[in-house]
Parts: sequence; C-alpha cells; structure tokens
Amino acid sequence: MHTNPEERLIRPARNVYGSLRLPGDKSISHRYGMLAAFADGVSRFTNFSTGADCASTLGCMEALGAKVNKIGDGAIGDGVVEITGIAGRVIPTSNALDCGNSGSTMRMMSGLLAPQQGTFTLIGDASLSRRPMERIRKPLEAMGAKLTLTEGHAPLTIHGSVLRPIDYTTPVPSAQVKTCVLLAGLQAAGTTTVREALRTRDHSELALRAFGATLTRTIDSVSITGPQSLHAIEAAVPGDISSAAFFLCAATLFPGSSLVLDSLGLNPTRATLLDVLTVLGARINVLNLEEKNAELVGTVQISAPPEGLGSAEVSGALAAQLIDELPVLAAIAPYTSGGIRIRDARELRVKESDRIALVVRNLRAMGAEVEEFEDGLDVPGGQTLHGATIDSGGDHRIAMAFSVAALRAVGDTLIQGAESAAISFPEFFDLLDQVAER
Ligand code: S3P
Repeated sequence: MHTNPEERLIRPARNVYGSLRLPGDKSISHRYGMLAAFADGVSRFTNFSTGADCASTLGCMEALGAKVNKIGDGAIGDGVVEITGIAGRVIPTSNALDCGNSGSTMRMMSGLLAPQQGTFTLIGDASLSRRPMERIRKPLEAMGAKLTLTEGHAPLTIHGSVLRPIDYTTPVPSAQVKTCVLLAGLQAAGTTTVREALRTRDHSELALRAFGATLTRTIDSVSITGPQSLHAIEAAVPGDISSAAFFLCAATLFPGSSLVLDSLGLNPTRATLLDVLTVLGARINVLNLEEKNAELVGTVQISAPPEGLGSAEVSGALAAQLIDELPVLAAIAPYTSGGIRIRDARELRVKESDRIALVVRNLRAMGAEVEEFEDGLDVPGGQTLHGATIDSGGDHRIAMAFSVAALRAVGDTLIQGAESAAISFPEFFDLLDQVAER
C-alpha cells in the first residue's frame, strides 16, 4: 500500500526480469504536439507521452487555439491523442501560458510564438522559474523579437512581431534552443541556420520533415527557409529511451537479469546509453530495427555481465548526449568495479534541479564515497550502499535514479518527492514493481 504519493519505499531486489513497453518519448511528444497544433489538419498519435510535461505542452497548444482530443487511456500505447491544428496562426490569449515543470515547453514554444501577432506570457512552476531563459532571448531578439524576462528567468513575455532570419551558433549544446530558433525560422522569410559545436538530439529536424517542412543539414548545422506551412500526420511515438534508462541500468546490476524493451526509440542522438552500458560490460542486443517517421525504433534485450560492471568515463560530446541519463548512471556507479567519472556536464546544474549536487548528496546519504566537481563527479566502484531517505528535490529523474540505486542497497530506501516521477513517467513505480524480483 502506498498511501502517501509523495513518499515511496523501495525494497532491495534479488533480480530484474521481464519485458516492458515504455510510454512515448517525451522529447518527440513535445515536438509532435507543438507541430500538430501549428499544422493544418487533424494529426493522430498513438503512444503519446503520458508525462505531465507533455500535458503542459498540450494545455498551452489548446490555449492557443488547437483542439486536443484524448481517446482511450488504458494500457501503455493504447490511447490516441488527436490534435486539430491552427494552420499557422495562433489565437492570441491574455491568459498566461502555463509550462508547468517543462523547460522544453517554454523554450520551444517561445520560438513558435515570437513570429506570431500578439503578446504572450509564459509561466512555470518554482523549478522552471529558476532555469536560464537568456539562452532563448538572445537569438530571438537577434531575429527582431522582443522578450521580457524576469531576472533572466520566467515569467517571460513575448511581444510577437515579423522576424528576420538568422545564422546562429548555440553557445551551449541545447536541442531546446536549436528548436526554438528553428520554429521561429520556419515562420521568418529567408534562411535561418543553427550551428552547434556538439550535436544535440535531432527530433525537431526529423519531425519538421515528417510534417512536410524542407530543411537542409550538414554535420554541424541545420537550415530552414521560411515561411513554410506544415500538414497533419499520423504517428506512433517510439518508447522513451530516457525512461527506459532506469530499467536498463537496473538490469545491469543483477547477474542473471534479463529485460526486453520493445518499440523503443533508438535515434542515434539519444541511444548513447547503450554504448556506455556496453563499455561497462552489459550484454545488449538490438532487434527488429525499423524507421518510423524518420525515427529509429527497435527492441532492446539486456542482461548483466556475470562478472559485474567495469568502469566508464563520460565527458565531452558523450556528456551532452547523455545529459538526461547521467543521474541514473551516477546512481549505479558505486556498484561497478572501477567506478564512473563524469565531466563536461555543467548543464546538469541547471536542469529541473542542480542534479550534480542532488546526486552527490543522495549518494552520500546511502553511504557512498563520491567527489563533486563543478562540471561532474567521480564515483569510485566497489562500494556497498545502505538504504536511506532520499531527497528528490521534486526532480523526476533524481527520484527514479535513486529508486534504481535502492534495488541493490542493504535495507529499504525512502524516496521523498516520489510523485515527481509523473513529470516524465507516471507508470515508473508500477513497472518497477513488475520487473524487480524480491
Ligand atoms: C530536451 C533537451 C535537453 C534535455 C531535456 C529535453 C529536448 O535539454 O535535457 O530533457 O527535448 O529537446 P537542453 O536542450 O536544454 O539540453
């Protein structure tokens, strides 16, 4: 019985075993939701993300004139989200657009709204209101938009206007900033180019093409010539590999484990975790690879190495690609033999929480030795952890990462702020109970 949704007790497991289907990818669902709302016609999606973040995107799109109809919501993958688009012209609203906990909603929607007529106010919860928004103000203002921030943060107000194209190099690797500029460029007359030193997830590029846009890409840039219109699509959203990460990591901890995850999104800009787990010694097979709306989808089989996990280093481009998976990788690091070293991950400090600080604090609460750096952490291997009270800081990925660490700890672990898992993955604890053998 779990009477208090804010706390969750995690008992150690003997093994992790079974097969799962994951709810739809959060990043792809945000993009499909926004582009369908902007497009002409009725789009239909199966396996749309069930997380609160994507519900924030859909809520904002409804407030801007799109119609959202959810049909059925039984087992994962069963429901359909139907979105009737506004054909390129949003309906101005004097109500604040509530982005909840979702940085993706706020940053990407800003690009969609800046070239529209009207004044829009975007708000978020306490965590989102602390996150940096200067990174979208700069390129949008260079395109001629007017944005007012609150000390660099939300609430923010966008005074929409006709924009000019831009050639922009992102100062930090950020798919959200890239998408913000592309969505503004989609509506600005002329060619907008975004350049990035480190390649970030390319779901926006693939989704824009799926909705009928033309764009050109080089190894480190993407260009879009506006204005272009979008048409509705039908699509099945691939399972979320960042949600799967918790189960993949859990499976690596138990010799004799076996987990099969089907219909999983395997976009190369997102699947780096599989490489790192392979380096650590995990046995991984990828089967049934196919392409759906230009996104790779497949089945992943994973089992733990009988001899235990080795060691790994994550830095440079790897750190940027693995940014959402680093908390869970760090949380299992004490159970490796050689430890895990993470660097060049300063961005972790400005996510839903300061994820470096929280990972360090919670690892120490479980008795682990760990060294904190400004841009990462060193977690030695060969450690035994004990159950503890975990402060998730209201951050979904911290709550889930330490639920995984708890499976191999001695004694029970209490996750505080466990309800935050619903931001990206409401089914997490039920699925964990399904595959964790006690
Ligand atoms: C996301 C991009 C990443 C990631 C976030 C989702 C996206 O953020 O951490 O969870 O869907 O584009 P940044 O683009 O800010 O790095």
